[in-house]
Amino acid sequence: MKKIKWGIMATGNIAHSFAKAMKAVDNAELYAVASRNIDKAKAFADEFDAEKYYGSYDELVKDSEIDVIYIATPMQSHYNDIKLCLNNGKNVLCEKTVTLNSKQFEECVSIARDKNLFLMEAMWMKFQPVFNKVHQWIRQDKIGDIKVIECNFFTLPKYDPENRIYSNKLGGGALLDLGVYPLSFATSFLGFDFKEINTNAFIGETNIDENSSYDLIYNNAYARLSSGFNIESQNPAFIIGTKGSIKLDNWFFQAQKAWIRNKNNDIVEEIHLPFDSNGYEYEIRHVNDCLNKGIKNSPIVPVEDTLKILNIMDFCRKQWNLVFEEE
Ligand SMILES: NC(=O)c1ccc[n+]([C@@H]2O[C@H](COP(=O)([O-])OP(=O)(O)OC[C@H]3O[C@@H](n4cnc5c(N)ncnc54)[C@H](OP(=O)(O)O)[C@@H]3O)[C@@H](O)[C@H]2O)c1
Repeated sequence: MKKIKWGIMATGNIAHSFAKAMKAVDNAELYAVASRNIDKAKAFADEFDAEKYYGSYDELVKDSEIDVIYIATPMQSHYNDIKLCLNNGKNVLCEKTVTLNSKQFEECVSIARDKNLFLMEAMWMKFQPVFNKVHQWIRQDKIGDIKVIECNFFTLPKYDPENRIYSNKLGGGALLDLGVYPLSFATSFLGFDFKEINTNAFIGETNIDENSSYDLIYNNAYARLSSGFNIESQNPAFIIGTKGSIKLDNWFFQAQKAWIRNKNNDIVEEIHLPFDSNGYEYEIRHVNDCLNKGIKNSPIVPVEDTLKILNIMDFCRKQWNLVFEEE
């Protein structure tokens, strides 16, 4: 397998976690990094042994050695950053939520298709061992037909209107920052053939949803989903079926443990599958694999599913009259 040369765009929190995980991937090389500030780029390159560093994103995308760029900028910037990469012939892995709305992503997908390039949202949850084991349990009919999924993602950050999560200008809000996980989780089990979305939100002073709920109602099942910046929660997830239930451990989107209970509430099976590194290594391996095999649309996080999630988000925000400045 060819070694894939990665470029990282931006040097914030998640870029650091991603770069750490790359050390656990044999056929990945953190080749270059770019920041809007050359000193930050150099410090990042020094910390993670990147060969090249750039003081602008424009320089990064022009480096002909790079196979794929990981975009780790704030939400409102993704649309332009993805286009910048694609238009310079670079494959893209872009952080969640991939763009502010479905229209922006449709345009990006169209460019990727025209240029025959790889494009994927970095929905790292879907590559993790426990998430995949739970899907196997469902296929093995361990809990019967799924009737209810309960999945919430709450945090209690310090209120700071300047922080990207509270900023309308930077594409903040609980739905895009956190809700993308409950939505991706539930639809991975129940699909997109729901008949109704029931949604509510509390819009705060900075004009973003500080908390929101978006229940998906199917013919024979429902998913109770919500997210917010107003509760300290451990965020486990539950899948309840006709024969039993599954609990994914706290922080379900990075759970390393899960349990099956029967109808008497007895634990009948449990798994503990620790990460090799910090959990981002699995998506990196997948992207490397796709690139080595010439696959342009991930079979695990296909652009079609990402678009469907964005459509749900568009629908919810329409109900709440919430528009981002950058749309
Ligand atoms: N997958 C996950 O587990 C996970 C976790 C956290 C966040 N995320 C996602 O990752 C993205 C970045 O989140 P983060 O927590 O890493 O954010 P962050 O710490 O604020 O870092 C964002 C970086 O983007 C760059 N940037 C470009 N334009 C900017 C602007 N106008 N304002 C501020 N920064 C700007 C900056 O890097 P330079 O100064 O170096 O250019 C900054 O350090 C978001 O889309 C978020 O949803 C994913």
